[in-house]
Amino acid sequence: MSYRIAVIVGSLRHDSYNRQLAEALARLAPRELEFVPVRIDDLPLYDQDDDSHQSEPVRRLKTEVADAQGLLFVTPEYNRSIPGVLKNAIDHGSRPYGQSAWADKPAGIVGISVGAIGTAVAQQHLRTILAYLDVPTLGQPEVFLQHKTGFFAPDGGIASEGTKQFLQKFMDRYAEWVKHHADRIANR
Ligand code: FNR
Repeated sequence: MSYRIAVIVGSLRHDSYNRQLAEALARLAPRELEFVPVRIDDLPLYDQDDDSHQSEPVRRLKTEVADAQGLLFVTPEYNRSIPGVLKNAIDHGSRPYGQSAWADKPAGIVGISVGAIGTAVAQQHLRTILAYLDVPTLGQPEVFLQHKTGFFAPDGGIASEGTKQFLQKFMDRYAEWVKHHADRIANR
């Protein structure tokens, strides 16, 4: 069986470290996991008045999430929380009331920032939001990365062998955990 992972990057920046991290992580994944980037840059600002007629980008987001067996959030920290664009996407996917696309999708959370605590506070906020949305989140290992020059290798991989091994451990655990949840749901 193959498992589709919807990858949601919380930065729209062209050279986003988090997007680069998402791409580097996908390389560490086992073959059964297919990483599919989810676009959030064309979503309108969330407006509850639109719940009865969601726009095409919103319906696309919800379909991509619904079709996935797992989620991977790769996000920077903005002012000690998650970026507004990520919260906007999460809010869109959660509505209309009772028709959330997120519920029961197992999620991993990772992030890289230039700050020393590597998105730790943003990740805690994200865990709180996802708990409300009934999204189980992988607890360990936590992945708080600080970007410094040379973090990414020229080929787009992770330059440091130690960091690469750590991320491989995360990926192995994440993959097992997604499979466990997906198989449980498939056998309901
Ligand atoms: C930041 N940055 C940042 N870093 C951090 O560690 N903690 C923080 O609270 C913030 N706050 C913050 C707010 C805003 C509005 C911006 C634009 C940036 C710095 C952030 O880590 C850096 O810009 C990263 O490069 C953002 O990730 P991407 O875009 O490279 O993926």
